[in-house]
Amino acid sequence: MSKRRLLTLTLNGRERADAVADNQLLLDYLREQCGLTGTKQGCDGGECGACTVLVDGRSRLACITLAASCEGRHVETVEALSRNGRMSALQKAFNEQLGSQCGYCTPGMIMASEALLRQTPKPDDEEIRTALGGNICRCTGYVKIIEAVSTAAAERSHDG
Ligand code: FES
Ligand code: FES
Repeated sequence: MSKRRLLTLTLNGRERADAVADNQLLLDYLREQCGLTGTKQGCDGGECGACTVLVDGRSRLACITLAASCEGRHVETVEALSRNGRMSALQKAFNEQLGSQCGYCTPGMIMASEALLRQTPKPDDEEIRTALGGNICRCTGYVKIIEAVSTAAAERSHDG
């Protein structure tokens, strides 16, 4: 049986401490222990990007990250992006530009895009494609997704 430890981290802006198993994946911790089901489980093997979250502002695949490795870190999931029930510019752009259909890939796409826009506020299409290279969508096609990220970048720079 694997050992358990106390994990202390900041999750979506709030500090919390939880008992986790040494071998517990961040994806299972977020979805099952914290009830944050916005982070999706796709391939479960680091191939599809559906489980993308931010750890200290960088995109990480929660299905191949141990929860225990997030000790003392800031973890953000898609649930952190809306404010008082209002979607962020990035979420709105995905919605309005038809960047999602079934939506299963969308939280991962949005978190990978969020990481990009924090580092590169005005990315060109090539930079967006590269940043989303690990995120697979089986239904939308990538043109609308790239347009959504561009639109959000323009909106964010406009808002200052
Ligand atoms: S579920 Fe993590 S990369 Fe597919
Ligand atoms: S919108 Fe369905 S997988 Fe991307």
